[in-house]
Order: sequence, then C-alpha cells, then structure tokens
Amino acid sequence: MNEKFEVDREFLFLGRTFEEYQDLFELEPADLRRGPILDCPGGPSSFTAVASALGASVTAVDPMYERSLDELEAECSESVDRNMEQVREKRDLFDFDYYGSVENRGRFLRAATERFLSDYERSPDRSVAAGLPDPPFADDEFALSLSGNLLFLYDDRLDETFHVAAARELARVTGDELRVFPLASLDLERSGLVEPVVDALRGDGRDVRFEPVDYDLRPAAEEMLVVSPRSAEWPAGAGRELFADQRAAVRPAMGYGAAPFDHDGVPVTTTSLDAAARASTPRSPAGPK
Ligand SMILES: C[S@@+](CC[C@H](N)C(=O)[O-])C[C@H]1O[C@@H](n2cnc3c(N)ncnc32)[C@H](O)[C@@H]1O
Repeated sequence: MNEKFEVDREFLFLGRTFEEYQDLFELEPADLRRGPILDCPGGPSSFTAVASALGASVTAVDPMYERSLDELEAECSESVDRNMEQVREKRDLFDFDYYGSVENRGRFLRAATERFLSDYERSPDRSVAAGLPDPPFADDEFALSLSGNLLFLYDDRLDETFHVAAARELARVTGDELRVFPLASLDLERSGLVEPVVDALRGDGRDVRFEPVDYDLRPAAEEMLVVSPRSAEWPAGAGRELFADQRAAVRPAMGYGAAPFDHDGVPVTTTSLDAAARASTPRSPAGPK
C-alpha cells in the first residue's frame, strides 16, 4: 500500500464544523468577542455561519467563492466522497479518537458543508472571493485571523515564497492574533516550511509561538502557530467597541435573542452571547478525550 496520503487535485474543497474549529484553533467564547474575525481559507466550513449566528462578525475568504451555489454544492459532494474514500483506505495513518470512526468524520464534513451552503446562499456578503497571498483588506482590519488546512498542509504545491508572502499578509491584516493550523503537511510530517515562515515573521518583529491543540486526527498535527504583532497597533478594547456596534446592527436583523438558532444541528436557545458561546460546549464531538 502506498503509505502517503495524497490529494490528486489541486485543493480539496473540504470544510470543518464550528466545533472542530474550536478544537483545532483552541477557540474560547471570548475569542468570538475580540473583534472582526477572518477565516482564510474559509472553504465549505460552517465556522463563519455558526460564529455569525452567535453574534460574531466573520468574513470568510476563498478563491472558490467566485463560483455559483450549484457549482460549490457539486464540488463539496465530490471532495467529501474522495476524501472519505482515501481516509477509509488509509485509516491506519490517522488517529480516530477524536471522531470515533471514519464514518463519523464523514458526518462532520457533510454537516459543515450543508451549513456552509445554506449560509452562502442566504448571506453572500460574508464570503469574499479572493486568495492568498493577496487578501484584499486593510492593515489590522481583523482582530483575529484563522487559517486552517491550507498553509503547510499543501507544501508540496505551494512553495516557500508563497508561504512566507501569505503568512506576512495574514499577519498584516490582523491586529491582535493570527492562528495557523496544521503545521504538518499531507505526508503527515511537520512541514519544512514552518521554520522559514517563523523566521520571516520574527524578522518582521512579530511575536510567534507554538501552542498545543486538542485535535488529533493526524498524529504530527497537534499544534498551531500563534502570531501576534509585537507592538500592538490594535488599541486595547478597540475590537470590543467595534464589535458591540456590529452586534447591535446584526442582532435585530437576525432576530437575535428571539428565535433559537440551529447551531450545526444543535439548537441554541439563549439570549446572551456568552451563554450562546457556552452552549457550544462540550467541544469534543467524540466526548471526553
Ligand atoms: C481543505 S480546505 C480548508 C477549509 C477550512 N479552513 C477548513 O479547515 O475546514 C482548503 C481551502 O483552501 C482554498 N484555497 C486554495 N488556494 C487558496 C489561496 N491561494 N488562498 C486562499 N484559499 C485557497 C481551497 O479553495 C479550499 O477551499
């Protein structure tokens, strides 16, 4: 058997659920209140839809968002089928403590894409068709940026120049904190591009650290990169003020506090953002780990 996990097309259009994002980026309820959040690449993840329903202000960016809903639906379905086929075939390469089983992992992928597709149709303004290394945003436009399952993972097709430029741009548009996961590539080893990216960011004066994450599908992918601007341009509290304004604008439009939200299939019936965020726990889909 070929021991390598392969993606035979350029990129898989696969997405994780809000719950998986919480674990792979170690997100806490307070992170949703930091200020505007960027998810790049967003893919067909349900993070943006669910975090927005919880009152956060989130923008998802992916070059695929230039496509129509029907095209994305077909792409999601094909990507999930292909991924499941290969994970089934090479299941020994993965750790299924988190998901419980290959089939359950498939259910998560399908739940994420379903939620993404309905939000893509209803709230197109949250999805920006663009790509790294040129995110079309101003310096420090986001308080928190999340970049999952693109950088380092696809280091066999995105080279060092791309990685360094993309990481610098993500750091540029981020006022408070950038989190990148995973640090392992498709061959399940830690990517050789982590070091040059970290060196470049530190050379720019950014504070870069490694933090463990509670998500362990890939044995070598249990940490994330956390990047903060050393001389914080983002004034303390600015994100919260901005966010309060956005929440005020968003709540009436969504009927926030009046109707229960469907939160990746889990009803959320609370009137406060804190309680809504707490309602998303327990965070592990497979129970205590
Ligand atoms: C495996 S998905 C990850 C989606 C999501 N972050 C998650 O973890 O569920 C990878 C995504 O990267 C997107 N992508 C490919 N090239 C990109 C680029 N240059 N800039 C931003 N996104 C890109 C693909 O379209 C795909 O949706």
